[in-house]
Amino acid sequence: MAALPAAVRIVEVGPRDGLQNEAVALNVERRLALIGRLSDAGLRDIEAGAFVSPRRVPNMAGSGELMQQLDRRPGVSYPCLVPNETGLDAALEAGCTDIAIFAAVSETFSQRNTGCSIHESMDRLARVAVRAHDAGLRVRGYLSCVLGCPYEGAVSDEAVATLSAELIAMGCHEVSLGDTTGVGSPFRVRALIDCVARRVPAERLAGHFHDTWGMAAANVHAATLSGVTVFDASVGGLGGCPFAPGATGNVATEDLVYLFDDAGVYTGVDLRKLVDVANWISAQLERPVASRVARAFNSGRPT
Ligand code: HMG
Ligand code: MG
Repeated sequence: MAALPAAVRIVEVGPRDGLQNEAVALNVERRLALIGRLSDAGLRDIEAGAFVSPRRVPNMAGSGELMQQLDRRPGVSYPCLVPNETGLDAALEAGCTDIAIFAAVSETFSQRNTGCSIHESMDRLARVAVRAHDAGLRVRGYLSCVLGCPYEGAVSDEAVATLSAELIAMGCHEVSLGDTTGVGSPFRVRALIDCVARRVPAERLAGHFHDTWGMAAANVHAATLSGVTVFDASVGGLGGCPFAPGATGNVATEDLVYLFDDAGVYTGVDLRKLVDVANWISAQLERPVASRVARAFNSGRPT
C-alpha cells in the first residue's frame, strides 16, 4: 500500500466538465470570472474549455474567445479538450499551451461521445498528439468509462490498461481515468489502478471520479492508497457528460480539499475561498450548492 503522499495535485475541471451539461449556459464573461476565482482560491490546473462541436455541446461554445481573453496567471495551466485536428487548429489559434485528448474504453460510448469507434478515435488522437507536440503543447489523455459504461455495462481492466499505455505512448504526460457515470466503488478502484499500474506507473495516472452513487471521495481515497496523486474535481460538485445519461457531477473540489487537509496532505487550495466560489457558481447556475462540505460550511457546522 502506498504511503500517504505529502501533496496531491488537483485538476479543477469545473469550467469544462462542470459547466458542459448544466441547464443554464454561462457566457464567456462569467466562465472567465469562474476561472479567475478558482485561481484566487489556489487552484493551479484549471480545465478551461473544449474545442468540440458547439452543436453537440452548446455550453462550451466560445472556448476560443475565452482562451484569447483569459488573464493567464503565472504558474497556472489551462488545458482544453481537443477531440480531433479541427479542434487542435482552433486551440492553436486561441493560443492554448495545454490540451487534453479523450477516448473511451467502450465502443458505444465512443460512438455517442465522438462519433467514431475506439480505434478511429485513437488514430485521430495520435495525429493530434504529433501535431500538438510539434507545436510545443503539453498533452493530457483521458479515458472514459473505466469502471463501467452506461450502454454496455462492465468493461475490462486490461482494456483500460492497454488504452492508457497507448495514450502514454502518444506522449501524454498523464492519463486521467474517468469513471464517467460514477458507478465505481473503492475496492474496484484499487483493483483497476493496480492492474493499469502494471503498464503505466501510478505517478502518471489521475483519478476522475463522478459522484452519482456517492462514492467519489471514497474512490479518491482508494486511488491514493494505490499511489495516485492527481485528481480531477469540480467546484460545487458540478458536472456530467451529455452523452452519459443519468450521470451526475464530479467529486466536489471542496470535498477533496477537506479530505486532504484533514490528513495533512498539501493541496495549495484555500478551503474557505473555494467554498465561496462554490456558492457563487451555484447561484450563477440558479441551483443550490451540491457539495456536502460547502453545505456544512454554509450551515456553520463545527469543523
Ligand atoms: P463529427 O460530427 O463526427 O465530426 O464530430 P465530422 O468530422 O463529421 O464533422 C461534422 C461537423 O462538425 C463539421 O461541420 C465539422 O467542421 C464540425 P459542418 O461541416 O457540418 O458545418 N467539427 C467541429 N466543430 C467544432 N469543433 C470540432 C469539430 N470537429 C468537427 N473539434 C466531434 C466529431 C468529436 C467533434 C463531435 O462528436 C463532438 O464534438 N462531440 C462532443 C464530445 C464532447 O465534448 N463530449 C463531452 C466531453 S468528454 C467527457 O465529458 C468525459 C470526460 O469528462 C471524462 C469522463 O468523465 O469520463 C473527459
Ligand atoms: Mg467527466
